[in-house]
Amino acid sequence: AKKLLVDVDCGVDDAQAIMMALAVPDVQILGVTCVHGNTTTENVCKNVLRVLKLCTAIPVFRGASKPILGITRNASYFHGVDGLGDAPDPEAPGLDMVQKEGAVSAMIRIATEHPGEVTLVATGPLTNLALAVRLDPTFPQKLKGLYIMGGNTESRGNTTVCGEFNFVSDPEAAYIVLNDYLCPVYITSWEFTCRHKLPWEFCDEWLSQDNEKAKFMKRIFQHSMNEAYSPQSEKELVDGFGFVSCDSYAMAAAVDDSFVTEYEQVAVTVELAGTCTRGMMVLDTLELLNKKHKAFLLKRVDMDKFKSLLINALK
Ligand code: BDR
Ligand code: CA
Repeated sequence: AKKLLVDVDCGVDDAQAIMMALAVPDVQILGVTCVHGNTTTENVCKNVLRVLKLCTAIPVFRGASKPILGITRNASYFHGVDGLGDAPDPEAPGLDMVQKEGAVSAMIRIATEHPGEVTLVATGPLTNLALAVRLDPTFPQKLKGLYIMGGNTESRGNTTVCGEFNFVSDPEAAYIVLNDYLCPVYITSWEFTCRHKLPWEFCDEWLSQDNEKAKFMKRIFQHSMNEAYSPQSEKELVDGFGFVSCDSYAMAAAVDDSFVTEYEQVAVTVELAGTCTRGMMVLDTLELLNKKHKAFLLKRVDMDKFKSLLINALK
């Protein structure tokens, strides 16, 4: 089986990504590590436990609650204050279910136990990953590969003028990861996800499956669907209408080798000092930075495959 470690700031699309991976037969998730981002790290842990309760028991580890430097953001306007659409859940598991071991040491331990075998999928700010490489500089080389949802390719931000949420929420961490992780790194950018929206009709069909998982998804998804479905929004018109499950694209690339049909290989880094551009991913297409290590940016994908991975997630 393909061994996965998943680092999340469990909002709605992180939940969708986790459920997608759990439905793929030859994939084994060894642990879920939690980081600040869409909501507080405590809420992220609770959200992951709620998702896993519906699916299968996997150890959950608590990680960083703040970025390395700068302000702590959240995305409550989109994912709800609790990060999962503020849908009431009186039976939510308690934080006593979270492992005693911290996220960063768990990541290092698990990768060390399975050298060269673990694929890390990161769908939140990269704070835990940055701390992991500082604690163990050999951590990246123990990984099979790293799949990131984050960054932007055309300086079109979703959080600041030029910045995507995960990178802008911890620019220093994103910088450390893009410069110190010399393993294969696959990046799903914000612009890529915008160009691959799923039609709302698919969404209706997806959520109409008659079972507990689909009902759960419908409840937690309502808040962000209302937020995203704004016909008057100019942004929607630029890319066409539809829903963007950002983190699920990164997960699909990690769990299904036939999902991505073309990558762009380019050296990347992160701007740290700009007033408008702090946290923006920078593509060195002219190779002026002399970076030998290039990242793989998702370019073309099989959307039918993506739809069937999502459908299976709620079966
Ligand atoms: C990213 O930000 C978060 O709100 C989503 O979960 C996704 O990881 C998109 O910019
Ligand atoms: Ca996320």
